[in-house]
Amino acid sequence: MSACALVLTIALSVIVRASAAPLTAIGEGMRAPGARRVAFSNGAPAARASSLAYVASGDVLRSIALGAAPELNTIADVSDVGPCESVFAYESGKRGLGDDARTRLAVTCARANAFLIYAVRADGKSAERLFALTGVNRIARPRDVVVVNDTLAFVASGTHARVVALKLDPSEKAEPSLLASTFQLSGADALELGPSSRQTIRVLSGGVRRVTTLKYTPAGTLQLVGSVKDSRLQGTSGSCVGVGSSERTFTYIVSPVYGGTFAIFNSTQYGAPEYLSGIHADGKNLGFAESPGIYEELRDAKDVSVHENDAYISAKSIGAILVVDITNPSEPVMREKLQSASLVGVDRIVVSPNGAFVVAVVNATSDDGASVVIATSDDAVIDKIPKRRKLFQL
Ligand SMILES: *[C@@H]1O[C@H](CO)[C@@H](O)[C@H](O)[C@H]1NC(C)=O
Ligand SMILES: *[C@@H]1O[C@H](CO)[C@@H](O)[C@H](O)[C@H]1NC(C)=O
Ligand SMILES: *[C@@H]1O[C@H](CO)[C@@H](O)[C@H](O)[C@H]1NC(C)=O
Repeated sequence: MSACALVLTIALSVIVRASAAPLTAIGEGMRAPGARRVAFSNGAPAARASSLAYVASGDVLRSIALGAAPELNTIADVSDVGPCESVFAYESGKRGLGDDARTRLAVTCARANAFLIYAVRADGKSAERLFALTGVNRIARPRDVVVVNDTLAFVASGTHARVVALKLDPSEKAEPSLLASTFQLSGADALELGPSSRQTIRVLSGGVRRVTTLKYTPAGTLQLVGSVKDSRLQGTSGSCVGVGSSERTFTYIVSPVYGGTFAIFNSTQYGAPEYLSGIHADGKNLGFAESPGIYEELRDAKDVSVHENDAYISAKSIGAILVVDITNPSEPVMREKLQSASLVGVDRIVVSPNGAFVVAVVNATSDDGASVVIATSDDAVIDKIPKRRKLFQL
């Protein structure tokens, strides 16, 4: 064997081992009443390496310090405008509270038709409100928000089925202002940022079975790139275009079609996204020509988050996090299942930008309160989990 081949073999075995570490849950889950959405910072690589996640939890905002002993902190009270359902974390060019605290949270609250911006302290343990727009009819029943750099925000209005652009002042002196630019759709439930080089966002609507790609200009003007309508998008409850440095060229969705579907749409081309592949809970009697993978685990699947070649899916009724290998996006393959009583009811799932942690929100849609379960497949973290907390590993 040549030296080169040897090096290659060693490199390959390291890669295989690293990605084969079993997903392990840290503890039984932390109570977080009202928890809905989880966000990681979308900033520069240094910000993305941060081990903080943020949770919109009804009348409060929370942070989670991730590690072998995760910690949940209430960082702000939003009860004056709450409940607030959606949160997006980004980086400001301006220093914030204290040293180099550049993390900002854009938050929307459906009852008060509110759009808020918070600055998070460097320790991640508190946040301060910078701006609050409330009673904004144009964003009525806001469902989701994304921010581009620190200059533009896009909000999906449920009432108007529109994406609405807001201008943010990078010096944080002027209030965010609504731009004239909006885009009318037939439905708008969730927004995802596309690759930044493309200046696109993707809009998901389960009600009208659509994935739409919009292009924005630096001034916030929105234009249609393409839209696909597909029955497999009916009732879509979760979607992702990839986190961290993922390419974001595919759109991944989870819907209740065929008992539970995980599907991949190819958004590589400028134009309408194209259905590429899907795996389902039902199938035996459906007579699929292309015979996709049938996995009973997908029944009642609710959400998906993708990091590199792994798609993490929340399987609500069986109480599991599924890991699907999407190395070949035309042929997704179920690889792993982390199942536990503490995951029964899991609705939301978000993987950290560095891929080290998976944050799952259990019973996010129930009024009886929700909890947050952290899982990791990082050996260095698993080794440090106190024994009594390392509850399950499949
Ligand atoms: C955001 O920042 C990137 C990198 O600096 C830049 O290329 C891009 O044009 C910016 N986008 C907008 C909308 O300002
Ligand atoms: C996605 O679409 C692009 C453009 O049509 C195509 O070149 C590429 O092969 C497609 N990817 C897959 C995995 O089919
Ligand atoms: C979530 O709610 C369901 C239904 O109420 C319940 O059976 C399950 O135990 C709850 N999950 C957790 C982890 O408490």
